[in-house]
Amino acid sequence: MSEQYDLIVIGGGPGGYVAAIRAAQLGMKTACIEKRGALGGTCLNVGCIPSKALLQSSEKFAEAKDHFAEHGIKVGSVKLDLKAMMGRKDKVVGELTKGIEFLFKKNKVDYIKGTGKIVKPGEVSVDGKDTLKTKNILIATGSETTPLDGVEIDEKMIVSSTGALELDDVPKKLVVIGAGVIGLEMGSVWSRLGAEVTVVEYLDRILPGMDSEIAKQAQRVLKKQGLEFKLGSKVTGAKATKSTVTLTVEPAKGGDAEEIKANKVLLAIGRRPYTEGLGLDDAGVKVDNRGVIQVDENFKTNVDGIFAIGDCVPGPMLAHKAEEDGVVCVERIDGQKSHIDYNLVPGVVYTWPEIAGVGKTEDELKEEGVEVKVGKFPFTANSRAKATGETDGVVKVIADAKTDKVLGVHILGPLAGDLISEAVIAMEFGATAEDIFRTCHAHPQMGEAVKEAAMAVHGRAIHMA
Ligand code: FAD
Ligand code: NAI
Repeated sequence: MSEQYDLIVIGGGPGGYVAAIRAAQLGMKTACIEKRGALGGTCLNVGCIPSKALLQSSEKFAEAKDHFAEHGIKVGSVKLDLKAMMGRKDKVVGELTKGIEFLFKKNKVDYIKGTGKIVKPGEVSVDGKDTLKTKNILIATGSETTPLDGVEIDEKMIVSSTGALELDDVPKKLVVIGAGVIGLEMGSVWSRLGAEVTVVEYLDRILPGMDSEIAKQAQRVLKKQGLEFKLGSKVTGAKATKSTVTLTVEPAKGGDAEEIKANKVLLAIGRRPYTEGLGLDDAGVKVDNRGVIQVDENFKTNVDGIFAIGDCVPGPMLAHKAEEDGVVCVERIDGQKSHIDYNLVPGVVYTWPEIAGVGKTEDELKEEGVEVKVGKFPFTANSRAKATGETDGVVKVIADAKTDKVLGVHILGPLAGDLISEAVIAMEFGATAEDIFRTCHAHPQMGEAVKEAAMAVHGRAIHMA
């Protein structure tokens, strides 16, 4: 039996690696066990980072092909070098994952390569061999693609997001199942690179969970860019040959089935917690009927000394949420009173324009019967957006009608993912719409649209016709 740790983290994703570093900063003797051979988890290896690298590259390709001319720039025929684009993505991923190894060394976190299994509280085995002793165990094993009956992922013809990040060729026709975050981001990538993309969605709207008005506008803009949407439809089966996939699709509410043919299919109907082989049953750790590990406000499971964070516990499956979970969890183990406000976890979809939101949606507030005032400002009236030529979108600020306190901010527009940070900070400090618009915003900036939308809550936007 080897030495005793204060904390062993199982899983080296954004939840696990950040928790491990924070624990080490607090003086805990810490180890992190990771089985994929690289740190950074889903996010750095097959999620946030490679997808954003491809979104950036494909956006540049689309710009050069379709938008340089309007800026008075003439280029010859623009050609795609997909291999080089993929190579760049892999380089970005490699540099970032290696960077975490360096941070582990700097902070004296032991990086243990292998599969961790809880033997019992206080003991974790690695690859079924070495058993390590520890005061506390932190589960941060993340999530995996939710499967769909009748649509078997082979990562060649029918791919998950992982396969969609490394296709060898641009498919002539790609069908995406699920108009959520992955569907729209990866659908955008391959559409920009030349694929005909159809997104099949069960519900009668895209991006459930985001403000429905913003989602509707986003759908219009994405349609303009070439994405086709087939809403209110469910895929009931898929047959793949070497070159074609035939999908059977039915109206969600019932009715006649039809067949859709594609050269590739991306299944993106959500993710589910991943806890396979972790020994949860033997350790007596409670999960719900969807496999989500149940934790209290200190991220403690029902078993003393075993904690869990990130995608495998309740809450949005987002890297920044997993990171905050990790920090708060280990600070609580350290006896501190840290906290996280789950209402203020921003969500960003990195299409172009981007889609971002924080706080409550107008739909949720209506349902709760809260009286609100809504201010909107379109990017067509923002001078910076005009100058850059990116005027699709709107900022929507929702405030309490009586107190003016900001309850939600939702943005479709250029750099929406960066603009939302202003709203998150304002809301974290309990700001009113007036607090936002009395704050001086630099000119000319996209952020002035946030200020003007806050002014519109009071019916006093300046630059709106
Ligand atoms: P993970 O990142 O999944 O890490 C868990 C790690 O645990 C994995 O590396 C796994 O190998 C390891 N592991 C599992 N079991 C064991 C075991 N028994 N022993 C040892 N190791 C084990 N979120 C955003 O916020 N922004 C984005 O732009 C974004 N883009 C995404 C794009 C895609 C295509 C996908 C799929 C996801 C994206 N996400 C994004 C979501 C984000 O990746 C996750 O929310 C985040 O990675 C969760 O972090 P985590 O630490 O909980 O789990
Ligand atoms: P999602 O939950 O965002 O979207 C899934 C979509 O599939 C929903 O619209 C849902 O209604 C639909 N759906 C469900 N069953 C269906 C069926 N049988 N047929 C057709 N449609 C069906 O899940 P997604 O896109 O797979 O992403 C998984 C997770 O990864 C999300 O929780 C997200 O937070 C995270 N992620 C975050 C990103 C970001 O922050 N930019 C980027 C990519 C992923």
